[in-house]
Amino acid sequence: MQLDLAQITHQMLDGVNYGNYINGEFRAAANGKVFDVTNPATGDLLLSVPDAGASDTLAAVDAAYAALPAWMATPAATRADLLRKAAALMLERRERLATIMTLEQGKPMTESRGEIAYAASFLTWFAGEAERIYGDIVHNSAPNKRIFVLRQAVGVVALITPWNFPAAMLTRKLGPALAAGCTAICKPAEQTPLTALELGRIFQEVGFPAGVVNILAASDPLPFSDTIFADDRVRKVSFTGSTEVGKILIRNSAATVKRMSLELGGNAPFIVFDDADLSAAVTGAIASKFRNAGQTCVCANRIFVQRGIYDQFADLFAAKTSAMKVGNGLLPDTIIGPLIDLPAREKIERHVSDAKAHGADIMLGGLPYPENPSGTFWTPTVIRNASSDMLVAQEETFGPVAPLIPFDTEDEVLAQANGTPFGLASYFYTRDVSRVMRVAEKLEFGIIGANDALPSVAQAPFGGVKQSGLGREGGAVGIDEYLEVKYLSLGL
Ligand code: SIN
Repeated sequence: MQLDLAQITHQMLDGVNYGNYINGEFRAAANGKVFDVTNPATGDLLLSVPDAGASDTLAAVDAAYAALPAWMATPAATRADLLRKAAALMLERRERLATIMTLEQGKPMTESRGEIAYAASFLTWFAGEAERIYGDIVHNSAPNKRIFVLRQAVGVVALITPWNFPAAMLTRKLGPALAAGCTAICKPAEQTPLTALELGRIFQEVGFPAGVVNILAASDPLPFSDTIFADDRVRKVSFTGSTEVGKILIRNSAATVKRMSLELGGNAPFIVFDDADLSAAVTGAIASKFRNAGQTCVCANRIFVQRGIYDQFADLFAAKTSAMKVGNGLLPDTIIGPLIDLPAREKIERHVSDAKAHGADIMLGGLPYPENPSGTFWTPTVIRNASSDMLVAQEETFGPVAPLIPFDTEDEVLAQANGTPFGLASYFYTRDVSRVMRVAEKLEFGIIGANDALPSVAQAPFGGVKQSGLGREGGAVGIDEYLEVKYLSLGL
């Protein structure tokens, strides 16, 4: 199908003049600098946006700090109402937001539309949670004393979000922060600031007071990060991104002892036992592996298949994978879009060559995609006879590459699955209900999909163990990350 892709870009972005969203208005950067946002599918320039530096960040902290007392004192029902209005407007503008997301991030339109709904669901979920922030009255320690436990907003928070989910990772942090009564300074990834700034318009339009939400685009994260970590008024930082950067942020947080929530890297095992429903397991593995071209922290990274069904699984998996259409995410039949940039492709190339060098067979792909305007497309790849010591199983590939690793016993596969410093998501397929409980209890991961390859939803607590992070986002516990617990001991 022929689509005028340039025309779509013009329709979305012509005449749009995003500024950084600070204190309720869209502003140019204080030093007048801008930076370019490009389309990963074509390499074309989409738009230049103001490039926030340290003084813009400080202005946002000032605004968020000034807005804090009134926002904390705003009744929860009013905060909830604004969150629900923002969610409704996001859904009303779903097509525009999804198109902008596909332009700057590359994912297929069906996934972008899905992400807008997923992103809006965090606002709706946390609107409900705003109305369920309770305290406690604890038994007294003396006849003339009473003890009350209060839960109050943490204060000003800084939210740093990744490029792979430009809308959902923002609302998964901003939803609970605003629901709890915090004010926020958000920094979207430098590759994908447009969706976030477009969301800023929505927060402005539905009537969030000036300074409650601030959104800064910056080509260099350092001035932002240095400013917020040095400022005592910022009481918490939430970050989604690599474990490497997460460790640096933990060190930075020591200076002013900030609370931290970290959603970091994964290395998800996807285990298929002999007794699994084969067709469901193949469909699930494909959904998990190739979502966003393999660029999610919860994508299946190591697919372990028990020897009895290994060949059948591999053949079916490769056949289905070969039918997946690679292309520009704006085209309706695209299933796999581009990688975010060329370094992402270089990592994939390293993983594939290492697997070959160690004797694995490339059943499918293993090469850049031939119709390749920007060099960022990779042919979906299936690697047979992979093993746990290969790079592709040791590191998060973050691309459309599926290593299939054979195994014999449950104990053996559990040892291999857990043999990683990461513990975000894991999956397994079996029809044996006893095995479901046994394996779920033994997997050292924060998220476990048993016969379910896509478990992420707003009402479940998302997060990892070990080096995959600290804290949980979503679920009933998600709001706790933005609440301080205080107690009042009252003498009578
Ligand atoms: C992520 O990759 O960090 C988020 C994926 C999800 O929310 O399912």
